[in-house]
Amino acid sequence: MNSFPTIHIRGTGGYLPERVMTNQELSQLVDTSDEWIRSRSGIACRHLAAADECTSDLATHAARQALDDAGITAADLDALVVATTTPDLIFPSTASIVQSRLKVAGFPCWDIQAVCSGFVYALAQLEGMMRAGMFRRVLLIGAETMSGILDWQDRGTCVLFGDGAGAVVLEAGEDDGCGLMRSVLHCDGSYRELLMARHARCQRAPNTKNMPALEIDAAGVSAIQMRGNEVFRVAVNKLGEVVQEVMQVNGVAQQDIDWLIPHQANIRILRATAKKLQLPEERMVVTVDRHANTSAASVPLALNEAARDGRLQRGQLLLLEAFAGGFAWGANMLRWSRD
Ligand code: ACO
Repeated sequence: MNSFPTIHIRGTGGYLPERVMTNQELSQLVDTSDEWIRSRSGIACRHLAAADECTSDLATHAARQALDDAGITAADLDALVVATTTPDLIFPSTASIVQSRLKVAGFPCWDIQAVCSGFVYALAQLEGMMRAGMFRRVLLIGAETMSGILDWQDRGTCVLFGDGAGAVVLEAGEDDGCGLMRSVLHCDGSYRELLMARHARCQRAPNTKNMPALEIDAAGVSAIQMRGNEVFRVAVNKLGEVVQEVMQVNGVAQQDIDWLIPHQANIRILRATAKKLQLPEERMVVTVDRHANTSAASVPLALNEAARDGRLQRGQLLLLEAFAGGFAWGANMLRWSRD
């Protein structure tokens, strides 16, 4: 008999800042157009955090909603993890800030940084730790304020990103045929120059000597730099491979998949992955049109949306995937545990 617990998602939450910026508005800032952004990326608008809103603020809103949804309080948690690439501070972790905002203390908190793959990476990490018996209930949040690390004069990047947070409550429980299955994770750091943001010290680090000089802002952080079309080609290729791999390690076939919940970078990348899976587009959860790329928040935000609007049904097979700077990419598979 299997003595390891199965890990279930018991609740979901999401938060998007109030301010919505349309493509039309962006076209007054940089030389772009609604037509270009929609046709190249599928994005129509994005949410932007207010000047006084930090990643921990967005994360705390999403956390509260996920806890309510799971019918528990923060005092019931054994750990709290935030996947983010835009932490409030270099240290302490954003997770520890969220913990104190939830007015609890004692249990471990940490951040995980795998850029847009942060949530997928963290889900795999936590599933392993929880199966090994370390924690029973964990709050996992993907939260980002990407607007703070964008160059608002670079039309190649500023049109693509947005801010937001999504959260899930994970719980170790019985094997009832549902819950998290095996994940696959990958990284190839040789691609780092295609997609990155630096802080001031990196200007002097020997491993970045071939990188172009960058403007560093007063906070010591450079804006996102991306060679978009090169990233695009590798993303399509690696995501095509990783969805096959995660099906293989879990022993499932293409026709078994009920929902693809992809990282929301670009509708053309999403469609290419759905095509690889021979999955009709209506079985894919899409938020990129309204949220743009919210990095580590995009997968849990999409999951939360589909859970709340009733698309996800208990027992259905979900495939989550993401591709990010690094490059770091991966996929999770699960059977939806909720009624
Ligand atoms: N408006 C108008 N024109 C633009 C804009 C813009 N916003 N941005 C670029 N262009 C121009 C370029 O300058 C170029 O002009 P040129 O031909 O005169 O040189 C032309 O449009 C085509 O540019 P490409 O970069 O080749 O356009 P492409 O079709 O590749 O689309 C995009 C660009 C949307 C960035 C796409 O490549 C993409 O989505 N890449 C992947 C992004 C991604 O997945 N990132 C990973 C996750 S993010 C993370 O981890 C933080």
